Amino acid sequence: MDRDAIASIRGAHREPGFGTMSVEDLVSIEGLIAAHRPASFLEIGTASGLSAAVIAHMLEEHGGERLTTVDLLDHFYADPSREAGFVIPLAYPDGKVAVERRTGWTAADVVAAGATYDMALVDGGHVHPWPLIDTLCVNVVLTGPRLVLQDDLTLFRRQPNGRGVGPKFLFDQFPESHREVFTSGGGNLFAVSLDLPPERIERIALDAFALPWTLTRKIPEDVVDKVQGVLDEHYSATLSQAFATCCATFNKPNGQYFRPRKSS
Ligand SMILES: C[S@@+](CC[C@H](N)C(=O)[O-])C[C@H]1O[C@@H](n2cnc3c(N)ncnc32)[C@H](O)[C@@H]1O
Repeated sequence: MDRDAIASIRGAHREPGFGTMSVEDLVSIEGLIAAHRPASFLEIGTASGLSAAVIAHMLEEHGGERLTTVDLLDHFYADPSREAGFVIPLAYPDGKVAVERRTGWTAADVVAAGATYDMALVDGGHVHPWPLIDTLCVNVVLTGPRLVLQDDLTLFRRQPNGRGVGPKFLFDQFPESHREVFTSGGGNLFAVSLDLPPERIERIALDAFALPWTLTRKIPEDVVDKVQGVLDEHYSATLSQAFATCCATFNKPNGQYFRPRKSS
C-alpha cells in the first residue's frame, strides 16, 4: 500500500480524539510488513480499531492471513458508547484476512489462548510497566522475524506528568543493535528485536521492572495472577519473583509508593 492509500483509509474513518497512529507511522509498519510478509499479526491495544483495519489491508496485500487485536476495554476508550474495534468492519469489510477481535483481554490472555504470531504491535497501556509486560507476553507467542513494533516512545515528553513513560523505559533497556526508531513520524514508533538470548531478555525485564511504575490505577489481582502465570511458566524463577516483589512495592496508582519525607 502506498502512502496515499493508507492516508485515504485513515482519513475516511478517523475522528478528532481517536488517539490513532499517524499516517507516517503506518507507512513505517507497511514497510516492515512488505519486507517480512508476516502470515499472522498481533496488535495489543485496539481502541477504535483504525490501526487494525489499516494493518489488515496491508496484510492482505502482502499475503497475510490473520490478525488478532486485543483491548482491555469492551468499549472504545475515547467514546464509551461505541465498542472497541468498531471501525474494523467499516474500514475492512469482507476482507480476506481473518480478523479476530478480543475485548477484556490483555497480552497475558493472548498467551493463554495459545496461537502464535509472526509480527506484533504493542500499543496498549503506555504507563510503566505495561509495555514491558506486553512485550514479555508477546515474546512467548512470537515466531518469524521476532520484531515487535511499539508506539508512543515520545509520549512521556508530551504529557505534563510523564506517566506514559513505559515505552521509553523499555526502549532504553534494549541494546542499540536490537532497537530501531522510525524517525519519519517524529520518532514516536520504534521496533525491538526479540532475537536475543533468553538470559538477555530476562536482564532487560529485571532492570525495567525495577524502575518506578507509573500506573494510574492498580493492576487488578486477577490480571496480576495471569501475568504471574506467564512468568512462572515461561521465564526464570528469578524474574517471576522479581515481578512479585515489584508488585508489592509498585502496584499502586499515582506513585503512592513515594512516601513524603518526614519533616525534622
Ligand atoms: C492508544 S490506544 C490504541 C490505538 C490503536 N492502536 C490505533 O492506533 O488506532 C490504546 C488502547 O489500549 C487499551 N489498553 C490500555 N491498557 C491495556 C492493556 N494493559 N492491555 C490491553 N489493552 C490496553 C486502551 O483501552 C486503548 O484502547
